[in-house]
Amino acid sequence: MVNNFSHYFVDDKTKQHKDISFDFVFKGQKYHFKTQDGVFSKSQIDDGSLFLVETALKQNLNGCGLDLGCGYGAISVLVASNANVNMTACDINERAVQLANENFQANKINANAIISNVGDSVQKNDYDFVITNPPIRVGNAILFKFFEDSYQKLRVGGAFYAVLRKKQGAETYIKKIKSIYDNCEILDKHKGYVIIKSIKK
Ligand SMILES: C[S@@+](CC[C@H](N)C(=O)[O-])C[C@H]1O[C@@H](n2cnc3c(N)ncnc32)[C@H](O)[C@@H]1O
Repeated sequence: MVNNFSHYFVDDKTKQHKDISFDFVFKGQKYHFKTQDGVFSKSQIDDGSLFLVETALKQNLNGCGLDLGCGYGAISVLVASNANVNMTACDINERAVQLANENFQANKINANAIISNVGDSVQKNDYDFVITNPPIRVGNAILFKFFEDSYQKLRVGGAFYAVLRKKQGAETYIKKIKSIYDNCEILDKHKGYVIIKSIKK
């Protein structure tokens, strides 16, 4: 890859990756996360992802959820242990997927992570919700595929939740999401992060 952000989504197998781990307390419960160099937000849970989880949990999540671009699985772990949901997670980064599955096991989460280019390898097409902190820096072609695949993977009536950043062009992405779903509600805003929800009609 030729850009500076490839470390977020390409697993460079020629490099040695240092193991990292940290504990995180959420709603009074302690979680343990194992991460590595080369995965997104390796030293702590990303502020945007955390804000997304906190906001989405207020929406009474239930049923089957898809965590698109799961990284080491933080969103799925926190959502699955605080709502009555079954999570499937996927990421293009093989190392992230491996870490996500280890983190599901370590935190006793009944979830499964698979390697997938956006939704390409996800079999199910009737998820109750899709949740994502999308990789903004990969460019519009992949980013728009995140929005389109989310729509495709939802059942009618299912909800799409995403965190976007004002300074990274949230308004443009909201327009694109609206063009796919025909609706896009802003659930909350904080420190430049915007949490959106769209329903598949
Ligand atoms: C902003 S990070 C969020 C990671 C994780 N959900 C979190 O909150 O820590 C975006 C993730 O999308 C993944 N990604 C990038 N391009 C992808 C693609 N084409 N298909 C699937 N995942 C991709 C990256 O590897 C990265 O883990």
